[in-house]
Amino acid sequence: MAVDHPIFTRVYGVVAEVGERTGLGRVRRRVLSSATGRLLIVGLGPGHDLDHLPPAVTSVVALEPSESMRAAARARIRTVIDRGIDIDVMAASAEHIPLPDDSVDTALVAYVLCSVEDPAGALREIHRVLRPGGDLLVLEHVREDDRGWRQHLQRTLEPMWHRCAGGCHLDRDTRRDIAISGFDLGGLSRVRLRTLPPVSWTLIGTARSLQSGT
Ligand SMILES: C[S@@+](CC[C@H](N)C(=O)[O-])C[C@H]1O[C@@H](n2cnc3c(N)ncnc32)[C@H](O)[C@@H]1O
Repeated sequence: MAVDHPIFTRVYGVVAEVGERTGLGRVRRRVLSSATGRLLIVGLGPGHDLDHLPPAVTSVVALEPSESMRAAARARIRTVIDRGIDIDVMAASAEHIPLPDDSVDTALVAYVLCSVEDPAGALREIHRVLRPGGDLLVLEHVREDDRGWRQHLQRTLEPMWHRCAGGCHLDRDTRRDIAISGFDLGGLSRVRLRTLPPVSWTLIGTARSLQSGT
């Protein structure tokens, strides 16, 4: 289970709020626009994704191991309940999801696979609980592909960043982890968002869950 980082929770809450007002809110809305049915949110954080649920989402189950993050999300959770959408927030980690096989229609990973201890293990679990053909919605900062100054910056900052940013890694190859976990990558692309340079190279879009063995 991930450790709670109350100071990071406060700092991230401010950063996420600023991001929301300066363009990231529109990006989140676009990523979430194809969510349907029962939605699994992995790593709820302060809950900004809850502000962008499309009408086709009928219920939400969210995983958030950090107590301070769950507290930070309280007002947004209340708003979802007020909209008449069922929401269940679990103090659980992505590596051990307490849900049956094929029990959700859509899953969302937004700025969380950088922080989980075992991304491939987490994605195997997400694949297990997502119904075959269901979509994994992705919004993740990832390792720079080109070997220029940005990759150098990521490498230089990585040890300090990991300690200060709630266990976040700058150099994850999330596309590869998704590919080896039973998803089709056809709906994913890499784009540069107008966020801080170490976290601007972003994997975004939809990865469809393939049947095991296909
Ligand atoms: C940087 S925040 C992102 C929160 C939110 N998804 C967003 O887009 O703003 C990462 C979140 O993932 C959570 N987290 C860390 N390890 C996790 C794990 N193994 N399983 C589920 N969530 C985890 C952290 O507690 C934190 O709330």
